[in-house]
Amino acid sequence: MPTTLPDLQDWRFNVDFEGIGWAVIDRKGENMNSLGRRTTEELGEIVMAVEKAAASGAVKGLVLMSAKDRSFIAGADIRAFESFDTEQKIEEVVKQTLELLNRIDRLPVTVVAAIHGYCLGGGLELALACDWRIADREEETRLGFPEVRLGIFPGLNGTVRAIESAGPTDAMTAMLTGRMLRPAAAKAMGLVDQLVPTRHNLRWAARKAVLQKRKSRGAPWWKRMMLKQPVRGLLARQMRAKTAEKVREEHYPAPYRLIDLFERYGDDPERMRIAETEMFAPLMASEASRNLRRVFKLSEMLKDEAPKNGFKPRRVHVIGAGTMGGDIAAWCVTQGMQASLQDVDEAQIGKALARAKSLFKRQLRTPLAVETAIGRLIADPSGRHIKRADVVIEAIVEKLDVKQNLFQRLERQVKPGAVLATNTSSLRLEDIAKPLADPGRLVGLHFFNPVAQLPLVEVVRGERTREEEVRKGCTFVAAINKLPLIVKSCPGFLVNRVLAPYMMEAVRRYQLGEPRDKIDQAALKFGMPMGPLELMDMVGLDIAKRVGEELDLAPNGDNVLGALVGQGKLGKKTGEGFYVWEQGKAKRDPVTYNEGELERLGRELVNPMLDEAERALSDRVVANADHVDAGVIFGTGFAPFRGGPLHYRRMEERAAA
Ligand code: NAI
Repeated sequence: MPTTLPDLQDWRFNVDFEGIGWAVIDRKGENMNSLGRRTTEELGEIVMAVEKAAASGAVKGLVLMSAKDRSFIAGADIRAFESFDTEQKIEEVVKQTLELLNRIDRLPVTVVAAIHGYCLGGGLELALACDWRIADREEETRLGFPEVRLGIFPGLNGTVRAIESAGPTDAMTAMLTGRMLRPAAAKAMGLVDQLVPTRHNLRWAARKAVLQKRKSRGAPWWKRMMLKQPVRGLLARQMRAKTAEKVREEHYPAPYRLIDLFERYGDDPERMRIAETEMFAPLMASEASRNLRRVFKLSEMLKDEAPKNGFKPRRVHVIGAGTMGGDIAAWCVTQGMQASLQDVDEAQIGKALARAKSLFKRQLRTPLAVETAIGRLIADPSGRHIKRADVVIEAIVEKLDVKQNLFQRLERQVKPGAVLATNTSSLRLEDIAKPLADPGRLVGLHFFNPVAQLPLVEVVRGERTREEEVRKGCTFVAAINKLPLIVKSCPGFLVNRVLAPYMMEAVRRYQLGEPRDKIDQAALKFGMPMGPLELMDMVGLDIAKRVGEELDLAPNGDNVLGALVGQGKLGKKTGEGFYVWEQGKAKRDPVTYNEGELERLGRELVNPMLDEAERALSDRVVANADHVDAGVIFGTGFAPFRGGPLHYRRMEERAAA
C-alpha cells in the first residue's frame, strides 16, 4: 500500500502512522469544491487503494475532508451536466458515481466525513455514504439538498440514505424545500452525527471516530415507524398539499416525483434505490431542469460581475427613510453592514426602524443577532454619519430639484472614494448629476420593492459615470448579497421597461372586459409568481400609473388605472385597487377558468414583455441577451423554469420551426 497517491490533482491522499487514510479534496483551479469528472475518478483511485490496504489490515479508516475555506463539497459540478443530453447517458454517469458511493459505503473500515463549509447536493450524498459525519459549527458551514431548485432530486441514492439517517419527515422536508441547514439543525435531525466548535477540531475528532470505529445509528425507531403504511401515505398527501401551495406540478415536477418515489417505495430501500435512478434521468433531461440550471448559471454570472477591486464597503448611509430607503438600510444591516438612516421627517425614520426590527426577527436566528443588528442601524436625522460612509444612497422623493440640491451638498460632505448613489426609478442620472462639480461620480443603484425579496439591483451607468464608480457599485451590491446588473441610463432601465408593457397589457385586457381573476390566473398558469393586477395593487397604482406614463404606454393615465387612482384607490396601501385588500391579502374570486383559455391568455399577456425584452437588447440597455434574461428573472420573478424571456422566445421559435 503506497502511503500516498502522488498523481492526484483534485485530492491529496496519504496514510499516517496510525493507519488512517486522509483524503483531502482541493479541486484544482476552483475556489469551491464540486464533484466533477476528474474529482470522482480520483476519489475512485483513493477508494481502490483503501480497499486493497484494508484487506491486508494496513489501513484502519478513511477520513474525507476539504482544504477549501468555504466548501466541503458544494454539489455536483453543474457545468458537467450539459454534456449529458440523453436519459441513457445520464443514467450511465449516475450509475458510475453511485457505484463509487456504494463502494465507500461497503468499505470494511470506518469512513468519516469531516465537514467544514458548504456540504450540498452530491457532497452531502457522499457524506451520507460514510459511516460517521462530523461538522463544525462555523458560520460558513451549511448542509442541504438544493437539487429541487435545479429541477431534480438527489440521484446518488441520497433519497434513501437521507431517510435512513434523518427519518422521513425531516429528510423529505430538507429535500423538498432545498433549504440550507445550519450544523445544529442538521445534527438535530440526524444528517450529522457529531458537532465540533471549529474547523481546527475536525481532524482530531475524525481521528478519534476512526480509532473508536464509530458508526451512525441512523434514525430512531419512532421515526422509522413513519415509513409504514398508512402513515407513509398520509405523510405523502400532506407533503403534496404543502408543495402545491408553493409550486405547480406542471411547472416544477421534481418535488412531486420525489413524493411519488417516497410514497411507493419508502419502506423498501432496495427498490427505492433502483426507482430513484429510473426517475432521476427523465427529470435531469427535462427542459424545466435545463432552464433552472441556466438560471443558476445566470446568477453566478451576475455575481462574477462584481470585481475584486479592494473596495470593502462597511458603512452605508441612506437618505430618505420611506418605503425604499428604510428597507435598503435594514437589508444592508442584515448583511453585516452598519447603516445610518436620514430623513427630513423623523417620524419616517421611526417607522423604518420598527419595520427593520421585524425584518431582523424574521431573518436572523438568535436574539443576540437581532440585538446587534438593531445596534448597527442608526437613526441619523442630521446626517452626522455621511462623512464616514463608504456608500451613500439617496432614496428621497422623486423630484429633480430636490435631488440635485441634496447631491450638491452631499458631494462636499462625503469622503474621497465613497460611492455616491441614487435609487431613482425615473429621473435621468445625467440631470441629477448636472450641478455636481464631479458628475462622473454619480451612479444609480436601483433596488426593487420589496427589497428583502427581490435579489436584483440595477447598477446604472449614466452617460458620464466613471467606470470605476460602476465597478464599486457592483462590489457593494455583491457585498450585500444581491445580484448586480449593469444597465444603461434610459427610461425604465431594464426591468421596469420590460415589465411595464406586460402590466399595461393586463390593464388593457381588463378594460376590454376580461375578468380580473382570469387575467391574474393566466399569468400564474404561465409561471409568473403573481398576477399583474395583484402585483400593481402591491406596488401601488399611483406608482404603476406613473411608470406607464413615463414609458409612454398609458399617456395621461387615460385608462381604468387613471380612474382608480382618481378615486383614491391605490391598491394594498389604501385597502382597495383592482382588488379589495383585507389583512394584507387580496380578496380573489373563487372562480375556475378553462385551462386552455388560461394558457392562451397567459402567453398573450407575456408577449409584449418579450417584444420589449428584444428591443432592450437591441438598444443595448445591458451587455447581452443573457443579461436581459437574468435581469428580468431576478428583478421580476419571470417564470424561472422557462429560462428567461429571450431564451423562452428562442425556444418557442425553434419549436414552431
Ligand atoms: P417615499 O415617499 O416612501 O419616501 C421618501 C422619503 O424621503 C420620505 O420619507 C420623505 O420624508 C423623505 N424625504 C423627502 N425629501 C427629503 C430630503 N430632502 N432629505 C431627506 N429626506 C427626504 O418614496 P419611495 O417609494 O421610498 O421612493 C424613494 C425613491 O426610490 C424615489 O426616487 C423612487 O423613484 C425610488 N424607487 C421607488 C420604488 C418603489 O417601489 N417605491 C422602487 C425603486 C425605486
